[in-house]
Amino acid sequence: MERKAVFILNFGSQYVQLIARRIRELGVYSEIVDWNIPARELEKRNPVGIILSGGPASVYDPLAPLPDESIYKLGVPVLGICYGLQLIAYQLGGRVGKSSQQEYGRATLRILKKDLLFEGIPEEFEVWMSHADKVVELPKDFEPLALSDNSPYAVVANSKRTIYGLQFHPEVVHTFYGKQILSNFLYKICKAKKNWKMTDIVKEKTEEIRKRVGNSKVIAALSGGVDSTVASLLTYRAIGNKLHCFFVDHGLLRYGEREEVETNLKALGLPLKIIDASSLFLERLKGIEDPEEKRRIIGNTFIEVLEKEALKVKDARYLLQGTLYPDVVESAGIKGSAKIKTHHNVGGLPEKMNLKLLEPFRELFKDEVREIGRILGVPEEILNRHPFPGPGLAIRIIGEVTEEDLNILRRADRIFIEELKREGFYNNIWQAFAVLLPIRSVGIKGDVRTYDKVIALRAVESTDGMTADWFRFPSHFLDRVARRIVNEVRGVGRVVYDISSKPPSTIEWE
Ligand code: XMP
Repeated sequence: MERKAVFILNFGSQYVQLIARRIRELGVYSEIVDWNIPARELEKRNPVGIILSGGPASVYDPLAPLPDESIYKLGVPVLGICYGLQLIAYQLGGRVGKSSQQEYGRATLRILKKDLLFEGIPEEFEVWMSHADKVVELPKDFEPLALSDNSPYAVVANSKRTIYGLQFHPEVVHTFYGKQILSNFLYKICKAKKNWKMTDIVKEKTEEIRKRVGNSKVIAALSGGVDSTVASLLTYRAIGNKLHCFFVDHGLLRYGEREEVETNLKALGLPLKIIDASSLFLERLKGIEDPEEKRRIIGNTFIEVLEKEALKVKDARYLLQGTLYPDVVESAGIKGSAKIKTHHNVGGLPEKMNLKLLEPFRELFKDEVREIGRILGVPEEILNRHPFPGPGLAIRIIGEVTEEDLNILRRADRIFIEELKREGFYNNIWQAFAVLLPIRSVGIKGDVRTYDKVIALRAVESTDGMTADWFRFPSHFLDRVARRIVNEVRGVGRVVYDISSKPPSTIEWE
């Protein structure tokens, strides 16, 4: 029997993953499913509660996504959030209209009626709204439980049928008591049992890997980053030497990175083989300026190098990958997004080599993988490492990649990261790095005219890399980093700081 879960029907809200995470943080397993899942299928999957997410549509649009109405008859508690609330009103016989005053941002919620949903919550508090439509007439047997200035039906319910709707977003941090409301829904209304605890997940996953792999062998390509390190360690604890770990040095790594990764991973006990393929990669990148072309070459060469090694492993049947839940949700096409960059991974490998994918983290969020890492004893330094793109420094040298430029970039980047760690900024930043620009600029060093390269510094805050804002450093910090780079890195005459956000700019420059 599958673990009982809260299913979140996704109507395209930007917060849908956040809802799933909140539910799991509260100790109950949750999954995101497409909004048009048939009620019968949902029933088979053992729901303990159903959440209807927000979304950009209006219920009265001819093409509005409307869920299977039988979900309201399953006898499973339902919570509609924003668009989800409007769906409940619309599908069960109420009315929804355009609001004359759209409500975005903070609003004060006033509770009208005591209910299990509000246990432990004051009568008035701030919530986060973001809607243009509103419920104007409730379905039969529904009553308002709370209101805001602009929404007389900010919280509604048919408590007998355990169907609830919220006009605001309980999942965002700006809603006070949002977590308490979700917790009340889970434990008081759905009567859910705690079934999501990371120490249990580690045991379950270990058992699953052991069973699935049997006597065959598993290939892992490590990058030194969080996901592949934790996935490998978990797998290693499950199957020991049947796991073969490779680290491909493509020559596009940061200063001292290969040695650092080797030391770190060996300290964790992982059996690691390092493959030095840097001259092959650099040879193939000669004369290549186009970013997508660089990615393609690096991706293909990576596969080729790893394939050669993997073929030497007898009985290799699986390729370990640290795929996370957000990747699964996105690739399922729930969130239609245009392809901006080809993000290289080793996806082509299993097909060519007849390897099956082993993806123990397919249903986990990054925070959860970090938690597993902690349980397995992975040092914080690895768990907090900034993400580093597969194509490495090749996409941080604008234009052609040369050995000389790699060395310049490595030295500048090292100074930046060193200073970030020293000032304690590193862990508050999603990603920080230096970029080498393909232009020269005039300067003077010791009375001599110079005509040197330009380094751009990039540092962003983000929660998932999908959107990002540039990090506000104090000026004395930028001053020190710039001085050090110009003084210590020969060939660099100027340093600039990138103050673009994503969107419209991406995090990487290429
Ligand atoms: P962008 O530049 O698209 O980056 O805003 C979002 C996140 O993805 C990383 N990134 C890559 N990762 N291969 C990777 O493995 C790639 O080709 C690639 N391009 C960007 C980037 O570092 C950031 O974390």
